[in-house]
Amino acid sequence: MQTPKIKFDHVTKVFETRSQTIVAVKDYSMEIQAGEFISILGPSGCGKSTLIRMLDGIIDTTEGDIFIDGVKVNLGGKKKMPPEVLRKMGFIFQQPNMLPWYTVRENVALPLRVFGLKGKEWEDRVDELMKMVGLEEYANARPSEISGGMLQRAGVIRAMVHDPEILLMDEPFGALDELTREQMNMELLDIWQKTNKTIIFITHNIEEAVLLSSRVYVMGTNPGHLVETVTLDLPRPRELSMITQSKFIEYRQKLESYIGEIDLSKIK
Ligand SMILES: Nc1ncnc2c1ncn2[C@@H]1O[C@H](COP(=O)(O)OP(=O)(O)OP(=O)(O)O)[C@@H](O)[C@H]1O
Ligand SMILES: [Mg+2]
Repeated sequence: MQTPKIKFDHVTKVFETRSQTIVAVKDYSMEIQAGEFISILGPSGCGKSTLIRMLDGIIDTTEGDIFIDGVKVNLGGKKKMPPEVLRKMGFIFQQPNMLPWYTVRENVALPLRVFGLKGKEWEDRVDELMKMVGLEEYANARPSEISGGMLQRAGVIRAMVHDPEILLMDEPFGALDELTREQMNMELLDIWQKTNKTIIFITHNIEEAVLLSSRVYVMGTNPGHLVETVTLDLPRPRELSMITQSKFIEYRQKLESYIGEIDLSKIK
């Protein structure tokens, strides 16, 4: 059997604060193959960001293991993740987090400095990506001078500039208006189809999860846990017009029913 690109094996994360013990994630397992686009869907506080932060090595697991290409990446909090493993990942945040005193291009190129990637090949890559998302004319602008959609595009290509194999996206388009968000979703699908990256996409939005992914991991709260895994048998390339088709609506309703159950249990 093929080694999964990413594997969570019975992962639990407990936060001990001065006043309480929070089980942020309980016994979470998932396997993602190279080139898959999967979503993690769930209400606020169910541990979605915690999963990403454990995968990225920012925080350690309490129990269970996480593997990237078969290599264990939870290292007991003492060792740092090796740079060659870290380089496999690009992170796209909810807010663009641009450095205001850098130009748009300098912001996009930042990971090259972090990973010590120098030379014409890499510089050309920055320009190509800027062009791909229509930002080439704004290369020398400051982040404060471009629109929210443009900032988010810059955030997407910044995560890709060091050519990572995995994109980790934590509610990347949540702050955008509906129209720009839809446009960004379609652009993301296009980028994914062209580059064959493995994508983990975190969202609150059911429609977005169905439109983008091949599989949705639905999570619940108290403690954060996996409720259900739903495989989406919808053709690709995906089109926005698909959201009115009966199969799409069926999936949406199925996911709504899981999220609904979660909300009920929260009220009790
Ligand atoms: N560093 C921390 N210390 C203590 N508790 C934490 C810490 N980080 C997260 N938590 C708690 O863990 C739980 C899960 O948080 P997490 O940020 O992973 O949720 P989320 O699903 O990403 O939520 P949202 O959709 O609002 O972003 C929450 O109860 C949160 O308060
Ligand atoms: Mg979060």
